[in-house]
Order: sequence, then C-alpha cells, then structure tokens
Amino acid sequence: MSILFTGATGFLGSRVLRQLLSQDSDEPVTVLGRGERLRARTEAAVTWLDAPRLPDGALGRLRFVSGDLTVPGLGLSNDDRTRVTDGLTQLWHCAALLNQQGDPIPLHTSNVLGTRHVLDLADAAPDAAFLHISTAYVAGGRRTGHVLEDDLSEAHGFQTSYEESKYTAERLVHAWAHRGGRRAMILRPSLLVTDRPVPQHLPGQPLDVLLRLIDSGLRTRVARSRSLTRYLTAAGLRGETLALRVRADSDGEGNAVQVEYAARAMVHAAAHIPAPGTVRTLHVTHPQNTSVGTLVRALGTRYPGISVHLVPEVPNPTPLESLIAQQADVLMGFSTQRRTYDRTGLLQAVGDLPDPEPIDHAYLARALGTAAALQSA
Ligand SMILES: NC(=O)c1ccc[n+]([C@@H]2O[C@H](COP(=O)([O-])OP(=O)(O)OC[C@H]3O[C@@H](n4cnc5c(N)ncnc54)[C@H](OP(=O)(O)O)[C@@H]3O)[C@@H](O)[C@H]2O)c1
Repeated sequence: MSILFTGATGFLGSRVLRQLLSQDSDEPVTVLGRGERLRARTEAAVTWLDAPRLPDGALGRLRFVSGDLTVPGLGLSNDDRTRVTDGLTQLWHCAALLNQQGDPIPLHTSNVLGTRHVLDLADAAPDAAFLHISTAYVAGGRRTGHVLEDDLSEAHGFQTSYEESKYTAERLVHAWAHRGGRRAMILRPSLLVTDRPVPQHLPGQPLDVLLRLIDSGLRTRVARSRSLTRYLTAAGLRGETLALRVRADSDGEGNAVQVEYAARAMVHAAAHIPAPGTVRTLHVTHPQNTSVGTLVRALGTRYPGISVHLVPEVPNPTPLESLIAQQADVLMGFSTQRRTYDRTGLLQAVGDLPDPEPIDHAYLARALGTAAALQSA
C-alpha cells in the first residue's frame, strides 16, 4: 500500500500533501518531482504550515523519486518505475505549469503530455486510483450559466492556452479510465487564495502575480528615490490619488476559494473514488462568486494612492495604463465572466466539512495585505 504524489512543492500540492500526512496511517507517500533539492523543498513547503497537525513520524512516510513531467516515462529508470508502482493505491497528479499568459507549447508539453506520461505510469499500477487536479477554468470561454461538474466542452473556446491544456488533460483521463476500466477522480479548484502570509522562498498565491504586475508598472511611475509603499501611503494621506483606467467589466465575477479549504476538501473527497471505468469530477469551488468590484476595492486598500476605474475601453491611455493593459489584459479578460459552478458532487463527497468563509472585502484585503507585507519586507 502506497501513494504517489506529483507537484508536492507547489502552492496547492504542499497543502494537499500535508493533509495526507496528517491522516492516521503509515502508508508511504512517494513524491515525484524535479531537482536535487526535492526533499528539502518538499519538507520546507509542508512543514512551515501549522495545520493540520502532523502526527509524530509523519515526515518519515515520505520517499522521493526524481522525475520530470515533460520527459517520456517521466525520466524514471525501470527500477524506480517498479518501486513506485508496486502496491500503489492512489496516484495524485497535482503538478502542472500554470502560466496564464504562456506560450502554448510548454503548456501542452507539461500539462497534456505530462498527464499522458503520468497515466502511462499508472498503467503499471492496476489497483491505483488516479486523482487528477484540474481547474474550474476548463469551462474556458463560457461566460454565463451554471457549469455542472460533468460538463466538459470546448464549444466556447478557451481564453488561454493554460485552460485548453487542462481541458485536454481531462479528456486524456476520461479516455484512460474508460479504456482500462480504471478509477479516476478529477478535482477542479477555482482560483486559489490565502490570507496567511507565505514565506518568500515558498510558492505564493496567484494573486501575487497580479500584485507583481501592478507593482512593476508603478515602479516605473514613482520617484526612484522613495519606496513604492512610502510614495503611495504619503499620496493617500495627502488625499491625492492616481486615477487609473483599466479595461474590465465592473459587473464581472469569478470564483476564488481558500487553498486551505481546497486541500481539505480534496483529501476528504478521495475517500469517494468511483467504480472502475468511471470518472467522478468535483468542483472544488467557493459557494459564492467574488465580484470584480470587490477585488478592485480590496486592491484600493493596498494602494491607497490609486483609484482604479473599470471601463469598457481606455481611449488615449497613459504610459502606465498601457503597461497595465499589456501585462494584465488576460487577467482582466476574466472579468467578463458571470458563470457559476455546481457543487452537488463535492458536497456529497466532503460530507460534514464546513463551507469556507466568505471571500469578501475584508478577506481579500488581508490576502493582498499579507502579500504586500512580504514583498516590501
Ligand atoms: N494555484 C491555483 O490558483 C490553481 C487553481 C486551479 C487549479 N490549479 C491546479 O492545481 C495544481 C497545483 O497548482 P499549484 O498552485 O500547486 O501550482 P504551483 O505552485 O505552480 O506548483 C506547480 C507544481 O508542479 C510541479 N511541476 C511543474 N512542472 C513540472 C515538471 N515538468 N516536472 C515535475 N514537476 C513539475 C512544480 O515543481 P517545481 O517546484 O519543481 O517547479 C510544482 O510542484 C495544478 O494542476 C493547477 O493546474 C491551481
């Protein structure tokens, strides 16, 4: 009896792994990942968290094997392959490339071919259930309606190559399970957030990417001799604001969910793997969407010197507005969405796990504030 886990060094993966290690079990967990420091990076990512509590000796359950998604056979030797598949009961495939604005080829190589390579490995472990971490964004360009957990369609196209790569990977999982009579669960989180400060050397949340885009734009605008934070705070205290127009739909909404909840829900759900030959898909989403307006107001607490105006078009953009448009256009494209996500299967699978707290102005202000505090540290 053993578990194999990809993506353990990631923002989500490290929290799912911690949940698995917190269970009362002595089942070995083999982490498959890249680089010579795989053990050190995995242990650092898992141990800085203080919840859930790890039983004594939990880290002793960990084993490590060097492997790369992009390499056929994951780059495993025959011996490694036998070792990691022998007695395997669960294979968690959490690793992926998450670049939203990225070149389609590396995304395809990591997320589609990478999933193919992990499924090939699972062929050698006939009793293992496959837990595939996908994304609620496989719904792609669909803007409205209630997305069901079994929905998987390319009819609306995709906003990014990342979405398309995750969609195609889900298709591979379905084909593999049906062809081989295998058991598989697909877990689709929405945008993952946390209000807990993450140490700088560990993988941060996707909101950090948004903040970095805004910060880099602002740094080109503010006086070089003063820090960005001091400039903006002083401007805010003086009541001055820098008006910034951003092309986005102010009525748009998206789904964000706490990473801590997502990791807990996934491990609860893993107790409900379906029968052989079937795939069960669960939306690991928040019960309520978050409006773009709420996100923008929360950004306002981090940047008191800026007033952001969401507008349909930005005529005669300032240099700063052009920069933001160039760098954040894909992100702002998500503001056109209104769709909601069905969670019926998730709620059945997680039983009495309480729903996450609201992602409201206060929560987002904390989430953005902790990122800010760390960046300026
Ligand atoms: N973060 C979100 O908001 C979000 C939302 C929805 C769905 N998801 C899905 O959740 C899963 C985990 O995301 P995350 O937030 O943990 O991402 P992350 O922080 O970017 O971590 C990605 C993980 O994948 C590993 N990886 C990437 N390329 C690899 C390769 N070629 N070979 C081996 N390992 C590789 C990384 O290893 P290294 O440390 O070596 O780079 C890391 O462990 C992904 O499947 C993602 O699509 C995430």
